[in-house]
Amino acid sequence: MENSNQKRVSWTSKFGFLMATAGSAVGLGNLWRFPFMTANGGGGVFLILYLTLVFTIGLGLLLLEMGLGAKMRLNPVGAMRKINSHFGFIGSIGIWVVTIIFPFYSIVGGWIFHYFLIFCTQPLIKIHQDYFSQFIQNPYWPLFYTLLFMILTAFIVIKGVKNGIEKYSKIMMPALFMLLLCLVVRSATLPNAFEGIKFFLWPDFSKVTTNTFLTALGQVFFSLSIGMGTFITYASYLNEKVNLPKTAMIIVSLDTLVAFLAGLMIFPTVFSFNVPLNSGPTLVFITLPKIFSAIPFGSCIGILFFILLSLAALTSSISILEVAVAYLNDNHHFSRKKSVILFSVFCFFLAIPMSLSFGLLSGFKIFDKSFFDLADFIASNILLPLGGILLCISVGWFYGFKNLEIFQNKAGNIFFGFLIKFIAPIAICIILLQAVGLI
Ligand code: TRP
Repeated sequence: MENSNQKRVSWTSKFGFLMATAGSAVGLGNLWRFPFMTANGGGGVFLILYLTLVFTIGLGLLLLEMGLGAKMRLNPVGAMRKINSHFGFIGSIGIWVVTIIFPFYSIVGGWIFHYFLIFCTQPLIKIHQDYFSQFIQNPYWPLFYTLLFMILTAFIVIKGVKNGIEKYSKIMMPALFMLLLCLVVRSATLPNAFEGIKFFLWPDFSKVTTNTFLTALGQVFFSLSIGMGTFITYASYLNEKVNLPKTAMIIVSLDTLVAFLAGLMIFPTVFSFNVPLNSGPTLVFITLPKIFSAIPFGSCIGILFFILLSLAALTSSISILEVAVAYLNDNHHFSRKKSVILFSVFCFFLAIPMSLSFGLLSGFKIFDKSFFDLADFIASNILLPLGGILLCISVGWFYGFKNLEIFQNKAGNIFFGFLIKFIAPIAICIILLQAVGLI
């Protein structure tokens, strides 16, 4: 049994909805994941692939999720069941993906919290190049911060849609954006900055492999928060008509702009200070202290930056947790509080092996990946795109894109209908099959 529409909570305004969706999209995916994925993917080539995918498949799926949520006004499982009674499982995949992404995300959120505290309590000079790798190898502290991050997320989600999610998103996102701009200017004027900008923007096509396509696709899904029903859930709380194509376009542009700025902030620093390009998930945590050390009042700016980064991470993590909570609440009639607590405790246990995979369990590899990398790979590169394909097929082939009534004009329905029915599922399928070596 699903909740009736009358009882459903809602956003207070269109602006609140926009800020909350932007808050979900803009997060660690842009400021932390995008730079190291770009570094691994060969710089400019990765950027071109990313831009191509985000403004086609990414935009289409974002619109699709929003349209579906606004139309059905149900959580992902309920919405899919309405299309076809056998399709509930497609929504449930999303719930399972949340159980991988939430602990993973909280670990990185915890790292951010730790840096924030360090910047508050210690002079900058002490943060040396190996500081970060030593920190994440510690068995206890990273998990302590992970727990802290989860508790804060849980606290906001318990407070509910209006008082929690919407209120915080409205103020913090603009502030983060301004500060990011200042940091870009500083890092672009470091010695040797141009080398970094060149790496970031100049495509070297010899670096393209099938893996580049897959990681770019995974990054699109992760960064836009699509593929597991986040925006089905968020749009289900709408009770007024919103211009969805416009909203989706704003979100994609904003999200891409923030990722782009993050690249402009990180890469000049990498080249200016000789930070190893292949440092993977640690890249941003090594470069940022270096930028701050090159700035007057760097530690104050560092504190401010990590506060805002924590908030950007929180507006995203609450959107991750909310998907699971909406499902437990609607379909199993657990109270909001009970859903949040049960689910978070479960996810914390899953976070333990992921966090320990940097230290104690670092020798333990599956497919040559640590638990942490494996969780990210399976969730972002495999399950989210798979969720995307299934969404496209159910709406494109079963429900009919135009029945979502997103567009009044014919052209929009024809263009996006075609994208959803043919282009997106086929393209994602090719990329997935290629990556596992089947074609
Ligand atoms: N998009 C967010 C970021 O860039 C992370 C995120 C929030 C997410 N909700 C999601 C990722 C749902 C995948 C699925 O940081």
